[in-house]
Amino acid sequence: MTQAHHPLIIAFVCNWCTYTAADLAGTSRLAYPENIRLIRVMCTGMVDPQYIIKAFLEGADMVLVSGCHPGDCHYINGNYKARRRIKLLKEILPRIGIEKERLKLTWIGASDGIQFSKTMQELVVQAKKLGPNPVNTQSVR
Ligand code: FES
Repeated sequence: MTQAHHPLIIAFVCNWCTYTAADLAGTSRLAYPENIRLIRVMCTGMVDPQYIIKAFLEGADMVLVSGCHPGDCHYINGNYKARRRIKLLKEILPRIGIEKERLKLTWIGASDGIQFSKTMQELVVQAKKLGPNPVNTQSVR
């Protein structure tokens, strides 16, 4: 019998919106799965593609980048920059053995605690379907 897979999801979240939504979800006692590790960044535009690849190599089954809605970025166009990078990365990832579905980008505003919790639960379902990340070089669990 195979052991159940407990996926690990690394989420790079913008301080101004998604991180605040996560905090709100926490204080509103909205459950979100413990498989999620949040990494707070000042803006999604500051998430270097190298961090994303490193997260996969170090065991993330999925990586989420989540920031302010278009037009709401505190650094004007950081989220558009992130969107372009993610699009490019999705083309590159399969060449190094990572399915593009393992990388997600969402916009979750500061008051969207419910949306945050829902998105995290959906991610865990998707991660379970995808199974273990094939390029995991070490276990960070
Ligand atoms: S400040 Fe939130 S995405 Fe740029």
